[in-house]
Amino acid sequence: MKTKMQVQTCGKLYLAGEYAVLSPGHAALIKNIPIYMRTEIEVADSYELDSDLFSHKASLAPDADYALIQETIQLMHDYLSLLQRPLHPFALTIRGKMEKDGRKFGLGSSGSVVVLTIKAMAAFYQLKLSSDLLFRLAAVVLLKRGDNGSMGDLACIAYEQLVYYRSFDRMAIRQRLVDTSLLEILKQDWGYEIKPIQPALPCDFLVGWTREPAISSVLINQVKAKISSSFLTQTQDEVLRLEKALLVGEKEIVKQSLEKVSCLLLQLSPAIYNEKLRALKRSSQGLDCMAKSSGAGGGDCGIALSFDSEASQILVERWQAAGIEVLYKERWDR
Ligand code: PMV
Ligand code: MG
Repeated sequence: MKTKMQVQTCGKLYLAGEYAVLSPGHAALIKNIPIYMRTEIEVADSYELDSDLFSHKASLAPDADYALIQETIQLMHDYLSLLQRPLHPFALTIRGKMEKDGRKFGLGSSGSVVVLTIKAMAAFYQLKLSSDLLFRLAAVVLLKRGDNGSMGDLACIAYEQLVYYRSFDRMAIRQRLVDTSLLEILKQDWGYEIKPIQPALPCDFLVGWTREPAISSVLINQVKAKISSSFLTQTQDEVLRLEKALLVGEKEIVKQSLEKVSCLLLQLSPAIYNEKLRALKRSSQGLDCMAKSSGAGGGDCGIALSFDSEASQILVERWQAAGIEVLYKERWDR
């Protein structure tokens, strides 16, 4: 047990494969975004939780606002007890809201806070957790809550890299949790795959923020019934094509592939490409770049890959004129 520790977790955005990845065995490419949530954990006489998301603090007594953090702590307590580690109260301070002017960015803050709490407790108890174990522990927290996501956000945030993530059957693992011990579950094969990807494609990666918050779980419930087998196979093919093209640096295939997955999302449901996201996409027209909506859509962020600096500049100007803010930009080099 250490006296005072600091850890951080990143955000994430989907490059491709959103919605399809909800079906077990389907894949997505998800990019880490280095906009961080940070936490400090230190020994205390009693549990004290303090997040800047809320105007009040909490202990471990039930508190609706802190429920996600408290359930994560509970899971870690179960895990530590199974490892026969004595528990000690701590004060946990969480900062970095992943929002501006009260509007969230949509970078996966709830997934990030779960991973953050686990990382903080691992640091506090001096547990070495691999990225994979971090992912599994975080996934168990969300499975127990009945979360309807693919867990792709957790995969990316736990690995803190651009990842290829192939989803597992969440219903089946949730079922297993009922009668299998946590330690056993953590060792089993869940059927997912997480592969870090190192793109070999020189370009600018840009994030455009619509300033319109969207709620993924609501969109998922709206769109789920429309997911056809043809959408699934076509998206899966493109995700694989895009992954390969990123790895070998085939620009034209990357552009075609992003365009195709974007088109598939456009056809899937009008709820995905709202007006701002259509403007975000339209802004790349005629430029050597490709922009698309990211994640559940209906607001939040879109992403772009741009292959020349002038194109990047024009894209950013067009975004700004459409009320889209550049939240993040990075250069990919070979
Ligand atoms: O909008 P986001 O970043 O929460 O992404 C949601 C992506 C979906 O595939 C629609 C859902 C999921 O959990 O994978
Ligand atoms: Mg979103």
